[in-house]
Amino acid sequence: MRISVVGTGHVGLTTAVCLASIGHEVLGVDEDAGKIGLISEGKVPFHEPGLQEMLRQEFALGRMRVSTDVSDAARQRDVIFICVGTPTGQGGETDLTQVERVTRTIANALDGYSVITEKSTVPVGTGQAIQRTMREAASPNAEFDVASNPEFLQEGRAIADTLQPSRIVVGTSSERAEQSLREVYRPIVEQGNATFVATDIATAEMIKHASNALLATRISFMNQVAELCERANADVEVVAHAMGLDPRIGPHFLKAGIGYGGACFPKDVQAFRITAEQHGVDMSLLSEVEKVNTGRKQRFVDKVRAALGSLEDKRIAVWGLSFKPDTDDIRGSPAVEIARRLSTSGAFVTAYDPVAMDTARALLPNVDMAADPLEAAKDANCVAICTEWPEFAEVDLNALREVMARPVIVDGRNALDPRAAYNAGFLYISTGRPMVMGVVPGDDA
Ligand code: UDX
Repeated sequence: MRISVVGTGHVGLTTAVCLASIGHEVLGVDEDAGKIGLISEGKVPFHEPGLQEMLRQEFALGRMRVSTDVSDAARQRDVIFICVGTPTGQGGETDLTQVERVTRTIANALDGYSVITEKSTVPVGTGQAIQRTMREAASPNAEFDVASNPEFLQEGRAIADTLQPSRIVVGTSSERAEQSLREVYRPIVEQGNATFVATDIATAEMIKHASNALLATRISFMNQVAELCERANADVEVVAHAMGLDPRIGPHFLKAGIGYGGACFPKDVQAFRITAEQHGVDMSLLSEVEKVNTGRKQRFVDKVRAALGSLEDKRIAVWGLSFKPDTDDIRGSPAVEIARRLSTSGAFVTAYDPVAMDTARALLPNVDMAADPLEAAKDANCVAICTEWPEFAEVDLNALREVMARPVIVDGRNALDPRAAYNAGFLYISTGRPMVMGVVPGDDA
């Protein structure tokens, strides 16, 4: 099929490349000429494992093209995906300016039939707004349907989430639009285990926000459980593992830490709560979820302070800056906020992250960056682990102790094994696990 994808951020570019890889002819469009320049040279402007290789392959096979002209996206395309940014507006609601602008341009340029498909995360009701704009601005030759097809891809595993998803949700208001979108995803559905959920537009929009809000709720809940575990001398990792064995609960998104971040969860939870309020529904449950999440950062800073007596003039190594591993994305990253708070509280902070230091530098002018975890920890009074990059678990703890001024680790992500840290002579303070003082919980030896 002939498909265009407007907006080449994480969702848009991944969608474009993956749809090309299953045999469609794809045009990726972005008004940002710098971004399109990079992409046309075969470079992905963000860190996403495997995407650059796939992009180059699709260019070589001639299945993918890029352009800076949104009107191009509207010419003779079976499906047009809108994947532009939907940032948070001043009152916390979703700012739909870019969606509206792109829709207008598409409407003007459209010739023939196309399914205008919203893929960026938007509040329920946006499909209707797109429909209105299309009707107002459509050229006489235009024929269209509007659809919602929310994405559920996670950064760092975006290709697998797109090509082997658990579900594909498509909201339409016509049989014709539904058939077009079934055809787009046919190869994925035929080859994998994805359930194709065909519904109306409002329901599709709701599924996305409700999913992210529930996942965020699980995380905040477990973060509170972790706090209780710390007081009651229980181990949140074992609690989460055993809870997850119940098929009614399942194992995912039960990991306690320093709070959720990223471009989606913080924004989506807030937007969902506000949408509910606008419809007269009290979703104060989500206010609590947000409150717990916000509190995690200061709580972690306080833990570091408690471990050191004070932060004033202490040297602290912050390991990890991205909002989670396998991405260079620092949007809404609790790690960045923690590094900033430690440094404004009087500590000398040196950070290390395998891929996110370049993007974080501008936000952290008073934080030094180091070439590796040991360099960051040189002469430090404490290592503060803020992102669970796998390489942190592989650091030689004896070598680490040797370079540090004091052997203290505060682990916000439970990235290390408490017994190994204890055996290497560290004061190791983790999240929701009892302090290891010679006895490891669950160890009866
Ligand atoms: C999320 C959704 O998972 C995805 O479906 C949606 O389409 C986009 O938003 P992403 O932002 O890539 O994806 O990150 P995700 O892997 O969901 O993690 C979000 C945050 O929650 C991270 O900061 C992560 O560290 C944190 N998290 C996740 C936890 O603290 N505990 C967990 O158990 C899981």
